[in-house]
Amino acid sequence: MAIERTLSILKPDATRRNLTGAINQRFEEKGLRIVAQKRIHLSRREAGLFYEVHKERPFFDELVEYMVSGPIVVQVLEGDNAVANNREIMGATDPSKADAGTIRKDFAVSIGENSVHGSDSLENAKREIDFFFSESEIVG
Ligand code: CMP
Repeated sequence: MAIERTLSILKPDATRRNLTGAINQRFEEKGLRIVAQKRIHLSRREAGLFYEVHKERPFFDELVEYMVSGPIVVQVLEGDNAVANNREIMGATDPSKADAGTIRKDFAVSIGENSVHGSDSLENAKREIDFFFSESEIVG
């Protein structure tokens, strides 16, 4: 399997409830290595740019307001098949549809406050990692 990197975000509902360690443990237990990590507070402009692909969706304004409502932790996860592996560990976007044992099933509040974000393809992973990190901040 190919070693990949993917972008992960621990969202405001996770930082608010002090769940960053518990969520990071899930990644590490499943073989993903946290090779970059920082805690930041997004501006509305940054949140809108990051989620630009969803600009026309009815939930866009709500999504931006939520993502600026508290600190987030952005991270780069590295490992075999990291993009798909992380999506499996996170579970479905809507926690009511997520499999047992996934992060969203165990921790998410709702489809909006769903605790984590993970890149959905290798191409988007590259774009999303570049959005938050310079190469020198990623230490594999
Ligand atoms: P994420 O994986 O970060 O990608 C886009 C986000 O939009 C998604 O997780 C959800 O948090 C959010 N989202 C998707 N659908 C809805 C919805 N119907 N209502 C509110 N937020 C949503």
